[in-house]
Amino acid sequence: MEKTLVLLKPCTLQRGLAGEIINRFEKRGLRLAGMKMMQLTDDILNEHYAHLKDKPFFGMLKDSMMSTPVIACCLEGIEAVQTVRMMAGATNGRNAQPGTIRGDYCMSNQQNIVHTSDSPENAEIELKRFFKPEEIFDFTPSNLAYLYALDEL
Ligand code: TYD
Repeated sequence: MEKTLVLLKPCTLQRGLAGEIINRFEKRGLRLAGMKMMQLTDDILNEHYAHLKDKPFFGMLKDSMMSTPVIACCLEGIEAVQTVRMMAGATNGRNAQPGTIRGDYCMSNQQNIVHTSDSPENAEIELKRFFKPEEIFDFTPSNLAYLYALDEL
């Protein structure tokens, strides 16, 4: 099954929304396979946001991501990357559809609640960046037969 990375950003922790956001993923049927609070550093953010290094907001983005610890989550499910990304909604909360996480919880392009991996390839790279192998747990949810039909598994 596919795994993806979610980072609950500092704005989410500051606003006391961490539990509510994790709850949405759990209720959808995604399995929490790893979770930890961590203080991000300039080094890890230079790597993680390398595709944005020439953008004018790069410095501000890194500062905001280091302003408090974040919570890194590894979520698992069939096509988890795309599902989680759709649940997050458009990058800018003001453009995000109601019903999405950003569309329900934020008004900002940067203080936008979550980071989510954008492809299965990047999810693998990002999970290795934030988790050691022993921090990812593989167990079978007891309700698996009710989360998916047999021919989907
Ligand atoms: P990006 O990878 O484009 O979006 P997403 O988080 O939806 O995958 O951008 C990464 C983060 O950079 C984004 O979550 C918030 C920040 N950002 C800004 O601060 N200003 C901007 O104009 C954009 C496009 C992104």
